[in-house]
Amino acid sequence: MNLVLMGLPGAGKGTQAEKIVEKYGIPHISTGDMFRAAMKDETELGLKAKSFMDKGELVPDEVTIGIVRERLSKDDCEKGFLLDGFPRTVPQAEALESILSDLVKKLDYVINVQVDQEILMERLTGRRICKSCGATYHLVFNPPANSETCDRCGGELYQRADDNEATVKNRLDVNIKQSQPLLDFYESKGYLKNINGQQDISKVFSDLDELLSTLK
Ligand code: AP5
Repeated sequence: MNLVLMGLPGAGKGTQAEKIVEKYGIPHISTGDMFRAAMKDETELGLKAKSFMDKGELVPDEVTIGIVRERLSKDDCEKGFLLDGFPRTVPQAEALESILSDLVKKLDYVINVQVDQEILMERLTGRRICKSCGATYHLVFNPPANSETCDRCGGELYQRADDNEATVKNRLDVNIKQSQPLLDFYESKGYLKNINGQQDISKVFSDLDELLSTLK
């Protein structure tokens, strides 16, 4: 099962990725998570990514493509993978074709989670994440029992540095500009599947699950 999960910031990629990974046991490869981990460890990659992420800009293609190439070459991707947030530009999509061809693999589906732009700001500014296990909540749409701790592990909840209103606005502008050419690219190759992301989290997952069951 070789999958790409696409969608604008806040569409629900991370939320659905958690569920897909739990059910299908494939590795979750999120370029955003990889950059945040590198930032936390203050590596060279992290310092480079931070200067772009803090402004809501895309990290340059050559940096992003390099880390994905390395990650997809690991043994745990033999049984499949779920790419979340990559590719985000047509050059990244072309590079992915070449990486997969080198690895003698091909994509099954590129799943685009569709949500109207107007509701994404509210989704992102209300998001809270667990520092310990990474579980994602929303103060209104998916609230934890206590607004400061994780229901699952009791860890402390925090707000991502790029989830403030000004940065979210720029993230949305940047990603909206990049997304249509990318959707056209995958539509023309016959990989694209659209999913309505504006339903309950559990209904979005059941639609995804129905789609993925066609691959079994
Ligand atoms: P990344 O970490 O990938 O962030 P993003 O694309 O902006 O997406 P998000 O993680 O913010 O949203 P999501 O779709 O996962 O939503 P979630 O499920 O959390 O990238 C961050 C940065 O890294 C980029 O800006 C860029 O700088 C850099 N980067 C990453 N990849 C790159 C690349 N390929 N190239 C260049 N740069 C790159 O849900 C959001 C909220 O909504 C949550 O609170 C959730 O509980 C709630 N929610 C989810 N689903 C629903 C629903 N159905 N109904 C109601 N609420 C819902």
